[in-house]
Amino acid sequence: MSRYAHITGWGMTVPSRLVTNDDLAQMVDTTDEWIRERTGIRERHIAGGEDTTASLAVEAALKALRVANLNPDDLDLIIVSTSSPEHIFPATACLVQDRIGATKAGAFDLLAACSGFIYALNMATQAIRSGAIKNALVIGAETLSRITDWEDRNTCVLFGDGAGAFVLQAGEEPGGVISAVMRSDGSGSESLSVPAGGSRLPASPETLLHRQHYIHMKGREVFRFATRVMVQATKEAVDKADLTLDDIHLLIPHQANQRIIEAALRGLDIPMERCISNVERYGNTSTASIPIATCEAIQRGRLHGGDWVVFVGFGAGLTWGAAVVKWTGPFLPHRPIYPPSYRFWVRVRSRLLRLVRRIEGWIWGRK
Ligand code: UT7
Repeated sequence: MSRYAHITGWGMTVPSRLVTNDDLAQMVDTTDEWIRERTGIRERHIAGGEDTTASLAVEAALKALRVANLNPDDLDLIIVSTSSPEHIFPATACLVQDRIGATKAGAFDLLAACSGFIYALNMATQAIRSGAIKNALVIGAETLSRITDWEDRNTCVLFGDGAGAFVLQAGEEPGGVISAVMRSDGSGSESLSVPAGGSRLPASPETLLHRQHYIHMKGREVFRFATRVMVQATKEAVDKADLTLDDIHLLIPHQANQRIIEAALRGLDIPMERCISNVERYGNTSTASIPIATCEAIQRGRLHGGDWVVFVGFGAGLTWGAAVVKWTGPFLPHRPIYPPSYRFWVRVRSRLLRLVRRIEGWIWGRK
């Protein structure tokens, strides 16, 4: 019997701090007009003191679980797609696992930059369709502001922070994620990168001096690449699903730049009315942009059960990809799930486990 991976829950969050183009014009040599004309962005949300990638991911995850009416301990797998993890290790996904109390889930991070959410969605789908697992949580979460050079006008006007999450569940009814394509081209790795802080250029006074721990980007190169692959990946994924572009109700592209979105639509001959764009209000939230745009599409009544939707994205790597989904919605009837109450018990559980670890260390240390 065939198994399908349905999207049954969704949630998003952004930090409360809003930064407008005029605010940026006070920091670097730019103007509201330039940013709006070249990117379509007016404002973005930027992480405040207590926001981190994991804290945003947890908020989005709890909302998604609430929509799916699923308890965290029903999850088998958590994938966090991020380019701004809390640490090199442990994985941010493990921090999320602990904070939502997903006691039976494996957890790992996936790094495919802005294409990461599509990669993660496909990985979770394959795990479900193979029969290996039943329920997965896929999160795209970023605090790119922490690795943005606030003195570089080429990049600091583009990015924003936020998180979005989907719950995926196994089902026998045809639907959910039907096809996906994932591509990469490492020969373009220097177009968009954070050069230092890894094995090649470990942190040193020189790397700090040369601002190599921040995002470096060749904007025009990325622009050209993006417009080409968005069209190509969308067509491939739609083809693979045995559909045509006319069957697609909604295109939800990675929100990097309004001009890139419009160029892709022209290449696909899809009108703006069949596309979601919110880059104006969030900037480029990297791997979080597709799930955030999806949540907004649902809120505004633009995505319904049975609709065919295409997610398409591109990013550093270089990477790109697309997925075709027959939209589902929650499986389980509404039942009382109160994420805030989990938080209390989950914190108690986490503290107890830490205490047990300390006691164990004390006992073994005496021998
Ligand atoms: O998720 C993937 C992440 N990255 C992307 O999606 C980026 C893709 N690329 C882009 O979106 C565009 O290339 C940018 C928005 C980054 C730049 O737009 P552009 O139309 O390609 O501008 P440009 O890089 O060709 O620069 C044009 C001019 C330059 O001045 P000169 O050399 O012509 O005198 C830049 O120095 O604009 C200047 N410039 C700015 N001026 C005012 C660059 N950034 C700014 C700025 N404010 N913030």
